[in-house]
Amino acid sequence: MAKLFQNQVVLITGAGRGIGKAIALAFAREGAIVAANDITPVNLTPAVAEIQSRGGRAQAYIFDVAKRIPCFSMVEQVLNDWGQIDILINNAGVEPHAPLLDLDEWDWQRTLDVNLSGAFYLTQACGRAMRHQGGGCMVNIASIAGRAFGLRNRSAYVASKMGLIGLTRAAALELAPYQIRVNAVCPGVIETEMTAALRQDETMMESWLSSIPQRRLGKPEDVVGLVLFLCSPAAAYINGQAINVDGGKVMC
Ligand SMILES: NC(=O)c1ccc[n+]([C@@H]2O[C@H](COP(=O)([O-])OP(=O)(O)OC[C@H]3O[C@@H](n4cnc5c(N)ncnc54)[C@H](O)[C@@H]3O)[C@@H](O)[C@H]2O)c1
Repeated sequence: MAKLFQNQVVLITGAGRGIGKAIALAFAREGAIVAANDITPVNLTPAVAEIQSRGGRAQAYIFDVAKRIPCFSMVEQVLNDWGQIDILINNAGVEPHAPLLDLDEWDWQRTLDVNLSGAFYLTQACGRAMRHQGGGCMVNIASIAGRAFGLRNRSAYVASKMGLIGLTRAAALELAPYQIRVNAVCPGVIETEMTAALRQDETMMESWLSSIPQRRLGKPEDVVGLVLFLCSPAAAYINGQAINVDGGKVMC
């Protein structure tokens, strides 16, 4: 049977673990060539090896997406290696926890740099390549923290994810003439390293579970289906949307 993304090149940031890794495995299963990015080889090297051991195609690109020059260098390297970039998944993210009144400047700036500026640099670099190629698709992994209700002790994270949804809409508007679609996926609480501390706190867990109609946290695989769908021909007329994957916690 034909695979959904056969020979398409997909660049995925933060692909060493968690949601990014699950997305990378899924694209590889569907025949894509995975350009897998992370800031460190610690998890990325085994993640790429896992894809290859399952018969998929993947290559590691160790770059810090918080900075403009590394983002552009990475895109240039992927283009040199594979000749094209069909899909960009802006997934890399950080989430410092601190009350707003105590959050230090470094954490504030780093969060905006990784979660928002990185997505902007890669939208620009990949957008130029996709315009030249005649089209493409981008998905930004935002968060329900960027929707209506925010999140306590995560001011930088909330601001970055709201910004990312804004960037998604602006990019969808400006890139549509080049046949490039841009959408955002907004996960709820997903079982990854990012939420390890929360999941160890019984009170927090009960509070979250009681507010999720499906009464469970999500798994990285729960996010994958929507990402693949948004990049597929079935979603050809879906553009500039931010869609929640959260068991029904946020219904707007
Ligand atoms: N886990 C959740 O509950 C949840 C909920 C909503 C949204 N999200 C978002 O999903 C995305 C993935 O989250 P996760 O839970 O898998 O997190 P994670 O912490 O498990 O993985 C994030 C990955 O991003 C990489 N990364 C961090 N900074 C980077 C940088 N500057 N350059 C390149 N790579 C970098 C990390 O090394 C790591 O491999 C993030 O954007 C996060 O905000 C997660």
